[in-house]
Amino acid sequence: MTRHSLLPWHRGIPVLFASAQAVAMENLLAQKSVSSIQEWQDSLADETAALRDVSSDVCWQAGFTKEKCCRGDASTTPECWDGSYSFGECCPNADCWEGDFTFDFCCGAKYGSTGNQACWAGSFTHQLCCLANATSNSWADVLASQVETEQFYKMDDFYTDAQYGDEWGYYSKGHVLLGGGKGGQGETQGTQQFAHFTTYPMALSPHFARVFCRLLFVMWVQLDERAPFRVVEMGAGSGQLAYDTQQCVRTNALGLAPSVWRRWAAAFEYTIMERSPALRKRQQSRGLRSVAGDAQSTASCKSVLAALAASTACQGAEGLDAPECEARDRGTAEAGASVVLSNELLDAFAPVKLRFGLYGQPNITHCGSWQEVRLVHTIPEERLRNLLAIMGFSEAWLEGTIQQVRSYTETTFCAMANTSIGYEAQQKVDVNTSCLAIAFSLSELVNHLDLGIPFASHNMRMRIRKDSKLSDRLRTITSRLDSELQASVALPRDIYRQIRHQLRDLPDVEAEFLHATQTHLLPVSLSEDRCEELAWWFDAHEPRIARLALFYRKLGYPALHVVVRPGEDNFIDLVDCLLGPTGGYKLSLDYGANFEGLAHSLSVDGDNDGIFVPPIPHELMAGLPECHNFWPKCAGRIDWTTFVDFTNLAAAGERRGWRTLFYGPQNLLEQLSRLNLTLNAHQLHHFRLKCILILLWHEVSAGECQWVTATKGRSYSVPGYAVLQDDWISRHIKGWYGRESDMDGTGVQRWTSFKALLLEKPSTRQMPRPILFPSWHLDTRLVDPCWSFDPSTVPLADWLPRQDSDPHAALLKLTDEINSGLGRQYAEGYEEAQLGVRLVDFIVAKSGCDMLRPENAAALLERPSNWQALSGRRLLRKWGEMWGEETVSRVALELFKRLAEDESQPPASPFACAGQQAMMLLCNSPGGGSKIGPVR
Ligand SMILES: C[S@@+](CC[C@H](N)C(=O)[O-])C[C@H]1O[C@@H](n2cnc3c(N)ncnc32)[C@H](O)[C@@H]1O
Repeated sequence: MTRHSLLPWHRGIPVLFASAQAVAMENLLAQKSVSSIQEWQDSLADETAALRDVSSDVCWQAGFTKEKCCRGDASTTPECWDGSYSFGECCPNADCWEGDFTFDFCCGAKYGSTGNQACWAGSFTHQLCCLANATSNSWADVLASQVETEQFYKMDDFYTDAQYGDEWGYYSKGHVLLGGGKGGQGETQGTQQFAHFTTYPMALSPHFARVFCRLLFVMWVQLDERAPFRVVEMGAGSGQLAYDTQQCVRTNALGLAPSVWRRWAAAFEYTIMERSPALRKRQQSRGLRSVAGDAQSTASCKSVLAALAASTACQGAEGLDAPECEARDRGTAEAGASVVLSNELLDAFAPVKLRFGLYGQPNITHCGSWQEVRLVHTIPEERLRNLLAIMGFSEAWLEGTIQQVRSYTETTFCAMANTSIGYEAQQKVDVNTSCLAIAFSLSELVNHLDLGIPFASHNMRMRIRKDSKLSDRLRTITSRLDSELQASVALPRDIYRQIRHQLRDLPDVEAEFLHATQTHLLPVSLSEDRCEELAWWFDAHEPRIARLALFYRKLGYPALHVVVRPGEDNFIDLVDCLLGPTGGYKLSLDYGANFEGLAHSLSVDGDNDGIFVPPIPHELMAGLPECHNFWPKCAGRIDWTTFVDFTNLAAAGERRGWRTLFYGPQNLLEQLSRLNLTLNAHQLHHFRLKCILILLWHEVSAGECQWVTATKGRSYSVPGYAVLQDDWISRHIKGWYGRESDMDGTGVQRWTSFKALLLEKPSTRQMPRPILFPSWHLDTRLVDPCWSFDPSTVPLADWLPRQDSDPHAALLKLTDEINSGLGRQYAEGYEEAQLGVRLVDFIVAKSGCDMLRPENAAALLERPSNWQALSGRRLLRKWGEMWGEETVSRVALELFKRLAEDESQPPASPFACAGQQAMMLLCNSPGGGSKIGPVR
């Protein structure tokens, strides 16, 4: 979002990786379990090494081995346990034995070599329990193993309730709108209609919409002038993009040839699907067609198709029999959508935070290797009582509720405090410490990366017992939490929801409730439902996760942290349903990055949940607690946002047979030079043949195939369009072109800035090429080899592997100076890669392609007066004010030097590579760019 203030929601990434294992290492050394730092470093350098089993390091010596001591239970080999070490902290299978599950029952000789099948489920296997020869359970799983976690709020449910829930959702209630959506000033604010932030469609109206209007036109051409050509915009906010796009089509703002424009305008239809009732009302009040629906649910398909089939053209008697006016469960060739569009929708999709332990040999596609972070709210009992009384509850109901939450708190959290892990913690903290404080402090400890908190339960027990640094930290956290949680109770999710329901029309009491409650994050095992829901995600990203795991393991990190939005796959499924069998496009703009970049930023900062609180004007904060320090604090009263994982969206499309056509910064969708498009005879012939074959198999109607001959040999000349007209350069225009570094000077992360992702559900007809600028990579392995560094990700995550050494060894080379230089280099690299493309497009638009050919580029560089005329006058006049003269001159010079060379030159700066590719795409056969001539 282009907020009114200075983008602080781009929360900085901690740029220095701490070696998480280092501290653990010192403790281990103190116990003489590892002989030297060198040994430890060597183990990190070994690609096959897993994180160390710290228990093994100290438990096994003088004839005591894991095989001897762990095969059995605590009582099988008593001579192994002398009081210094115990079965529970040395043996990975210690958590197998509980209640009826004894070693004899599960591993007795009578059960043979695979043990008693009744004992094995999930991570409890014969290998682990009988042989002590597999990765131990996670201690976080053990901590939550004795309790029902259903009433711990799932992060995505909480996010959804607080943003879009009918009862208290920020968007549903209209808080997002100026005037709170209750009429008043918001209705008369022109294009600025949101209360505390603005978006590009509003800030750059009408130019933003025209860039997309032009692209939609190209898509219409590529879809062979499909009629009706149905555009569905999801999550349209104030409706500015919808309004301006339709105006653009109606008034021929692009300047298309009249005959073409008439056909285009006649075919064009635009429908919004919107989740927020308040925003839907606003859109409808502007005369826009808007239907209710949730973009994270395929269930919305039917109602949107019904709305499409009820378009104005379908209103008359003729519409009754027309196939495009028939609403079905899925889009049909005639009645489906052609394009689904969204801007700043996906950042609203609800996130789930996952943790993947790196200890042992975790299996990426196995749910037992993962945990999900959930939320628990607490409140002092007295304050709850008072609030319930103010809300007007009867004495009996009030007492009943208090009893219920008290008993929930005791049963759930004391069960956690009494697990083997909780028990070890209890031994280190004050007697009388509350169960809540023990459970929450252990969960909080997970994010203290400097402690290198282990994953395995027996390792954690040992560390709590023997690592004084860790137990001191645990004591400090527990004592703080214990005093904060004095006489507090935990609210089960259903009760929290009930209270928020009752508070929905009592904003002042609601604010008081927010002041009184605290939110705690707890990692728990993945539920079966979640496991099923994410199965495809584990598969789709397995190679990427494996690379990340290797990287962090070598740096000694105990876990990866990632955020997944299950709604992204549902969204693609919904779009697939709307587009129907003849295909079409999905174009999304948002802020975000690729999978690995986002996973890096979360993994180096355990407290980062991937949720950001944008700046909020003072007046909207009246009466609320401090909302910026911790995102859940003002749930429902403020806006939250997340970064979109474009790799995941593309993967969701690919698993449905879609293609990725473009991914990159949003301004690369703009084309100032004219685009010449020809649907050539070769393609048509090909498809005619295919069509005949399909007809023979009766898979499409004859009507669909007539298309082929109808468009034979058509050529189109598409005028260029640029957001930067000849007027003043606002900061929003700078933002659009990626020029952000002079906006706040704080070095906010550039790599998550606005991007576009264009996917194609293949039509049965032809390969479209609507975008002519170089697409960026969605997977680190596919980074352009021309780029000498990759500014589209966390700087250190790119820099370390480029050092030609092991990440750990490379990390040791890092100095503060290099580190801060990287921040600047990558931020500028990210910005200038966009400038390189814009300069090429501008030159093509003004002078054609000739000047950019290698021999001409070389000649230009040799003649200072000609170079001066181009760079000094034309380029600086257009781009100098926005980018600064030094930047434009330097980028132009390097770019021309690159153009003057042949393509096979060694890696160069990303802007030179991107500019050279843009030139080839625009100017080489079949090409697509030409001067802004008056050709129509
Ligand atoms: C940040 S606003 C952006 C609005 C608009 N696209 C723009 O750029 O100005 C997010 C929009 O998406 C809508 N939205 C969020 N989640 C949605 C969902 N799951 N389904 C449909 N609309 C949703 C919101 O109500 C709002 O209209």
